[in-house]
Amino acid sequence: MSARPAPARRLTLRDLAAKKAAGEKIVMVTAYDHPSAQIVEAAGVDVVLVGDSAAMTVLGYDSTVPVTIDEMLMLTKAVRRGLERPLLVGDLPFGSYEASDAEAIATARRFVKEAGVDLVKIERGGTSIDRARALVSAGIPVVGHVGLTPQTAASFGGYRAQGRRADAALAVIDDAIALQDAGCTMLVIEAVPSEVTAALMPLLEIPVVGIGAGADADGQVLVFHDLLGIHAGGAARFVRRYADLRTDAIAGVTAYADEVRSGAYPASEHTYAMARGEVGRLEKLLAAR
Ligand code: KIV
Repeated sequence: MSARPAPARRLTLRDLAAKKAAGEKIVMVTAYDHPSAQIVEAAGVDVVLVGDSAAMTVLGYDSTVPVTIDEMLMLTKAVRRGLERPLLVGDLPFGSYEASDAEAIATARRFVKEAGVDLVKIERGGTSIDRARALVSAGIPVVGHVGLTPQTAASFGGYRAQGRRADAALAVIDDAIALQDAGCTMLVIEAVPSEVTAALMPLLEIPVVGIGAGADADGQVLVFHDLLGIHAGGAARFVRRYADLRTDAIAGVTAYADEVRSGAYPASEHTYAMARGEVGRLEKLLAAR
């Protein structure tokens, strides 16, 4: 009897710090369901984020704003069931943590207890710095998110790069430092000029993962649907497409439709047969009716 392979060791927060110390890049990607979790696990990524980008990628909303705690929890639980080794980050949706420390802790606890996340992510500096401190005090590891913060993008003119001017860049850097000081374990920095990331990196000790923030960060994160080309339409400037699954999927479903219409599918190898002699018996039973 062959031995079952040993389960992969689950990464820890210390492993992330060790990667940063060793200058090893951290690979982070989003996933939103059980099959995508199994794919990113098999690809050997380090950190999986069930991002509130799920609002657009899988739920069909126009922005991240409408997605609810319960929708995010359902997706996050499915991802948890598909992961062994990577760290799992749950994204607290807009309106679920900003009002008070108590609200943030109550929401984050649901992600930890019900969906088994290792860390929660919250967006912005400002009041989110207090929320981060409260979450860390309550024993919940936090990922901060600075630069372009999609949940509040409308308040700064939409989805656009942040920190292009020196004073705005300084504000991003100050938020990042304040989030580290509040106890965050990791930071995501989104859509800022590479010079801003380069200026920030020597000022931080915690791992920083970039998305559209240049090559100086400790790692990179991309949205699963963007990097695999699952979407219709264009992607942000910083996305590199590593596959074109939408085209492949449309070709596959079109071929299936053609074969159903022509009768080429199903073929004999796709069909079941009755046990020997049973066809004759069935005919007799039908004739006797
Ligand atoms: O929701 C998300 O997918 C994110 C990443 C873009 C970092 O926040």
